[in-house]
Amino acid sequence: MRPVTLITGASAGLGAEFARQCAARGETLALLARRRDRMEALKAELPGEVHIFAADLALPGAPADLLAQIEAQSLTVETLINNAGFGLGGDVQDADPDRLTGMIDLNVRALTELTRAVLPGMLARGRGAILNVASTAAFQPGPHMAVYYATKAYVLSFTEALHQEMKGKPVRITALCPGPTQSEFFDVAEVTGMLPRMAVPVEGVVTAGLKGLARGKAIVIPGTKNKVFAQGSRLLPRAAMRRIVARIKTS
Ligand SMILES: NC(=O)c1ccc[n+]([C@@H]2O[C@H](COP(=O)([O-])OP(=O)(O)OC[C@H]3O[C@@H](n4cnc5c(N)ncnc54)[C@H](OP(=O)(O)O)[C@@H]3O)[C@@H](O)[C@H]2O)c1
Repeated sequence: MRPVTLITGASAGLGAEFARQCAARGETLALLARRRDRMEALKAELPGEVHIFAADLALPGAPADLLAQIEAQSLTVETLINNAGFGLGGDVQDADPDRLTGMIDLNVRALTELTRAVLPGMLARGRGAILNVASTAAFQPGPHMAVYYATKAYVLSFTEALHQEMKGKPVRITALCPGPTQSEFFDVAEVTGMLPRMAVPVEGVVTAGLKGLARGKAIVIPGTKNKVFAQGSRLLPRAAMRRIVARIKTS
């Protein structure tokens, strides 16, 4: 079995940049997303060995199927980057219920299933790393994008707890909490206004995430403004944070 870095959501945005930076470090890659053509184009520009898996990770059984396909190619996941995810702007009563459920299936269930499935092998081999992409949205409730914020609060809580469980064990696990970042995210989420205007390029976000994972950090929040915003949500009353987030969403 040869070690591989599995990157979910690798056809765009942060995932494609994770692929670029991990390939530049000489890692063998397994890329997962629904759009195969995008990943084939990315593969053509990357050095080294790249395996492509096209699937909808939100479907029941998809995480297990993916890992079985990886194993069938004599590969074993040494680094897992749980990056696939999407958001949806608007109020809960107006949202397509299937998209809300699909968001929970992808952002929460698939991430949890993949993490649970790779951990025993990593512990048995005495080597492994997991980077779960949360968000600064994880630190406070998100009026007008409620389900997305709640999924990211789950990712942060789950990852921090696992980080503690892995103390003294040979597996590193880190939550990456980006602020607004330039990608297809806001188009998919149908969010306009202040947040997409604040978005920063993917490169620095990905570099910070990989560096934090290598150093065994529990949480990485790239960028000073994002750190202040995340810490601010601990200091301010929750009612004030709810109002601030609602105001940002509608401006
Ligand atoms: N951009 C931001 O401002 C921001 C801020 C904080 C956190 N994040 C988080 O960063 C992560 C990456 O997002 P991004 O900004 O890079 O957005 P993006 O450009 O929209 O990329 C999302 C990726 O997820 C994949 N994906 C979506 N649904 C999928 C499904 N059902 N099955 C498999 N793959 C699926 C997409 O590929 P296909 O469409 O080809 O399947 C794409 O590769 C997400 O978890 C997001 O919540 C983003």
